[in-house]
Amino acid sequence: CASSDGAGTVVIGLAADSGCGKSTFMRRLTSVFGGAAEPPKGGNPDSNTLISDTTTVICLDDYHSLDRTGRKEKGVTALDPKANDFDLMYDQVKALKSGVAVEKPIYNHVTGLLDPAEVIKPPKILVIEGLHPMFDERVRKLLDFSIYLDISNEVKFAWKIQRDMAERGHSLESIKASIEARKPDFDAYIDPQKQYADAVIEVLPTTLIPDDNEGKVLRVRLIMKEGVKFFNPVYLFDEGSTISWIPCGRKLTCSYPGIKFTYGPDTYFGQEVSVLEMDGQFDRLDELIYVESHLSNLSTKFYGEVTQQMLKHADFPGSNNGTGLFQTIVGLKIRDLFEQLVASKAKSPVEAKA
Ligand code: ADP
Ligand code: G6P
Repeated sequence: CASSDGAGTVVIGLAADSGCGKSTFMRRLTSVFGGAAEPPKGGNPDSNTLISDTTTVICLDDYHSLDRTGRKEKGVTALDPKANDFDLMYDQVKALKSGVAVEKPIYNHVTGLLDPAEVIKPPKILVIEGLHPMFDERVRKLLDFSIYLDISNEVKFAWKIQRDMAERGHSLESIKASIEARKPDFDAYIDPQKQYADAVIEVLPTTLIPDDNEGKVLRVRLIMKEGVKFFNPVYLFDEGSTISWIPCGRKLTCSYPGIKFTYGPDTYFGQEVSVLEMDGQFDRLDELIYVESHLSNLSTKFYGEVTQQMLKHADFPGSNNGTGLFQTIVGLKIRDLFEQLVASKAKSPVEAKA
């Protein structure tokens, strides 16, 4: 084992469609680990990689085997496995996991071409984020933990409009058309990966406002698989019971339409899960401490850490609702999983490698 601390690299997979909050999630995650991740210094300015003291985040778009022109010629989208090199992805993630540096290609999002490779050294934590981290069985087996961001079509549409129309000047029709064009491949190759995820963050329109179609108030569900080693699902009040909680009142300010939490056991693709749900949004983020004090198994290092993280990044999208809250919680759970994995490998290196 050639990695710096002898413990090997812990590999995390984060899957979602593009524009669904992966970068925001990564910023919350690396913050939990104590440092912001930055692009590699002195390298290609169009590199997609982010590096912090502990964590390296690589974007799986770098494993596109067909560049933009190639995809056009062959009539395939970036979501199609035919446009991606899973053999190389597997070889490189495997090498990094066993402590060996790799020369990873760079997909240049500006030019749509493949740029010369960059050297990636084995970090303590490797996050592979993108469209297909759980698609290839070999790559999937290398993951120590996996997350799927499941953004419903209504919400995806609202976010795309906000970004592409407001910030990039696209028309409503062109946004609609691009979502529609991606949908068949999304349904065929991206969405099915959620069945393999250890945690899924599902983002849906609120049910607190009848017939809401604005997509501003969100109902967010954190689906946590049972029986995953070193991952103990978070619970509300009483583990394993079914609970519905409206925290609005003396300790939590809520304006219309309020906030509703639910928690309970469920099944997801035939597997046992716990689901924590938050519908609605916070008026005052500092009052989140009241909610935090009713949640257990948060893997915080001190009382109030969730609230502190949320306040620290109050400017990130989703900080006033369940997307930010659950991304922060999953970040803490990953830190805990990492620490437990490292401790277990230090105890029995042979057994942990098996
Ligand atoms: P990705 O890395 O998957 O492309 P980003 O994290 O860059 O996604 O988010 C893309 C855009 O989607 C953001 O600029 C924002 O407009 C919107 N967005 C992402 N997450 C949220 C959220 N939790 N709430 C509201 N909008 C969001
Ligand atoms: C990346 C993204 C895809 C996006 C593509 C654009 O690969 O991950 O989500 O669709 O770039 O590809 P295009 O063929 O439209 O240039």
